Amino acid sequence: MRFENRAAIVTGGARGIGRAIAEELAREGAKVVIMDPGSAKDGDGGDGAGPAEEAAEAIRAAGGTAIAAAESVADHDACGRTVQLCKDAFGSVDILINNAGVLRPKMVWNMPIESWDIVVATHMRGTFSMIHHAAPHMRAQRWGRIINMGSEAWRGTVGGVNYGAAKGGNFSITRSMARELGKYGVTANTICPAAATRLTLDDAVKEGFRKRLEAGLVTQERYDAVVNMGGPEHIAPFAAYLCSDAAADINGQAFRVEEGKVGIYNEPEMKASLVKAGKEVFTFEELAAQIPQALLQGYTNPSPAEPASDAAAAE
Ligand SMILES: NC(=O)c1ccc[n+]([C@@H]2O[C@H](COP(=O)([O-])OP(=O)(O)OC[C@H]3O[C@@H](n4cnc5c(N)ncnc54)[C@H](O)[C@@H]3O)[C@@H](O)[C@H]2O)c1
Repeated sequence: MRFENRAAIVTGGARGIGRAIAEELAREGAKVVIMDPGSAKDGDGGDGAGPAEEAAEAIRAAGGTAIAAAESVADHDACGRTVQLCKDAFGSVDILINNAGVLRPKMVWNMPIESWDIVVATHMRGTFSMIHHAAPHMRAQRWGRIINMGSEAWRGTVGGVNYGAAKGGNFSITRSMARELGKYGVTANTICPAAATRLTLDDAVKEGFRKRLEAGLVTQERYDAVVNMGGPEHIAPFAAYLCSDAAADINGQAFRVEEGKVGIYNEPEMKASLVKAGKEVFTFEELAAQIPQALLQGYTNPSPAEPASDAAAAE
């Protein structure tokens, strides 16, 4: 088995994509800690230890090894406790899947600071906290695999600046970890998934899309693609591949993974520059005259200004 003698922590492993990854790793012999406090979709309250216990029990029932930790990644010390639990129970910490997630969408002018804080704490601060505690073990043993769950939202999104920022932050964490830990045999990569889970495709989301279809705001093709989206089982095999020895040299990358498709994002590189001879200070007139030609050929404004009446109608 591919992950015999490997121990994994999967945050948010009680449901959705995390659970599918935990099961896939366990099927290949990994011993798994399911770290999940059973939160509701928006991070409030929830079901406590039940979902994590149930997910761990399902793995054990299938012949695997798993334990539950009903801890929150938003609690820095709880992250330390969970890493130690993995070490104590299974002897090592080899694989870390930073997957825990909650949603609190609103336009920026309506978003309470609490919604910013909980989303950033779960997706991004939690990723830092888990790596902070796991990295010493991985570094000492000179082997480790870290996957930080991203999202297409890292490229810019409407109505979820907290989520998009946290996912963008996760990709930056991935890139930094690849550089800090790579030489110790530890890789870090990001997966931007698309899969039907309670986060993406509950009844309210389906109903919202049906209304948008009826109002002519989305095409039938787009509607069909959303409501028939494949499940988390399409994400798990690629995550397992990234955790394997076969992927030892894949580091600091972001992948798009969805039903029947795996893609890789560009490296973010400067694509053009304007240089002032002698490094003198640019004048406003020079910038206004030269920037469009030198830097912005082929560029499209993602959201050009609209007449006031159109903009108000879209809210
Ligand atoms: N499903 C998709 O299409 C999709 C798309 C883009 C990104 N993602 C990302 O994938 C990850 C998994 O999402 P999912 O769709 O499986 O959602 P999900 O709601 O099915 O599962 C998320 C799990 O995270 C747990 N969780 C919430 N707060 C936590 C905390 N503080 N500590 C530990 N666990 C916590 C929840 O209890 C839940 O079990 C998330 O990071 C999400 O942002 C999913």
